Amino acid sequence: MKVLIVGGGGREHAIAWKVAQSKKVSKIYCAPGNAGISKIAECVPIGPMEFDKLVAFAKEKEIDLTVIGMDDPLVGGVVDAFEAEGLRVFGPRKNAAILEGSKAFSKDLMKKYNIPTATYENFDSPEAAIAYLENEGKFPIVLKADGLALGKGVLICNTLEEAKDGVKTLMLDKQFGSAGNTIVIEEFMTGREVSVLSFVDGNTIKLMTSAQDHKRAKDNDEGLNTGGMGTFSPSPFYTDEVDEFCKKYIYQATVDAMKAEGREFKGIIFFGLMLTENGPRVLEYNARFGDPETQVVLPRMKNDIVEVFEACIDGTLDSIDLQFEDNAAVCVVLASDGYPEHYEKGFKISGLENFEGKDDYFVFHAGTKLDGEDILTNGGRVLGVVATGNDLITARANAYEATKLIDFDNKYMRNDIGKALDNM
Ligand code: AMP
Ligand code: GLY
Repeated sequence: MKVLIVGGGGREHAIAWKVAQSKKVSKIYCAPGNAGISKIAECVPIGPMEFDKLVAFAKEKEIDLTVIGMDDPLVGGVVDAFEAEGLRVFGPRKNAAILEGSKAFSKDLMKKYNIPTATYENFDSPEAAIAYLENEGKFPIVLKADGLALGKGVLICNTLEEAKDGVKTLMLDKQFGSAGNTIVIEEFMTGREVSVLSFVDGNTIKLMTSAQDHKRAKDNDEGLNTGGMGTFSPSPFYTDEVDEFCKKYIYQATVDAMKAEGREFKGIIFFGLMLTENGPRVLEYNARFGDPETQVVLPRMKNDIVEVFEACIDGTLDSIDLQFEDNAAVCVVLASDGYPEHYEKGFKISGLENFEGKDDYFVFHAGTKLDGEDILTNGGRVLGVVATGNDLITARANAYEATKLIDFDNKYMRNDIGKALDNM
């Protein structure tokens, strides 16, 4: 099979790496890809929102399967564009990707189908939002832009003043453009966060192993929210009891709700959960693999991922026995100092060759580019260094050891990925 992957970050590198292990695959393309992906796939300079060009490329190269890694094209309807030309593609259609594309939609869905989540109200006028905050607000309170905002459209406001400023930022100043036309105002919850990814074929859902992200830029969860500075898998906080609760009230319930709404979901559902005192609650849904969760989940997956993708498309996921290794993995993101705000690019990266041919540690490229023989930094998040181990503590030690193998100017990482494990 010839496979095309759409995207160019660490997540897509991990997907491409896993696809490359499939016995069914002879050739991989990636649009646009990055320097790391180019070692295992042919990168083509087509942007993820250039649907016509992507479709034309898939036809010209007779691609057998296209896998969409990113949220924007899914929400924009890239799957519909491929299907309209009779091409096989993995991911939800536009009418199902709305599960991630509109937080107001997903909150209303959860309310309608009794799926546990924070209490909330949706607003499409700033005056109504402010009146609600003044009359009924309990602080801290959470404001969320309805649409996609690169993971940055969530504001946690400690006071009424902060919340009013937040409404202004999202709805009047339009910091995230039309994503802030509607906002969700919801109850602030506390607890540990867990990411659970799943494969879905419209009816059946198969869960992947759990993971935990570290979203803040600095140690001790300080600093700004980022795309994710590191992950570990499995999460020891995702106990059997939590699993049982989520299986009863959240996972299948979400798939069934989407079907009942005439929005059959095929692809990945990523459940962002918060484990509160009163039980697990859905923080958010994503309609794609997580980044950098994928970098720790896929190295632990035993199945041929292409078979699983095909089963989702064909509606035969019930016949797949999804299995994960009984081990652990940790990812430490190497970023450019200053991320997520201001940072420089274009520094030469050294030491990547130390990872070649290793099967217990890996480096997935997030923001890199080729410059002749050299590989240069080309983004805020540059690389994800991943190691496996028999348990989380070993995997973490291995991952931090492996970060020493790589060097570039302005290299920055968190030093406390998985620190929570010490208190277990
Ligand atoms: P989201 O994009 O919805 O996952 O939100 C980004 C981050 O904001 C989450 O990972 C949480 O850390 C935080 N967050 C979102 N919603 C809430 C909430 N209702 N209560 C507390 N924290 C929240
Ligand atoms: N790691 C969080 C996300 O992919 O949205």
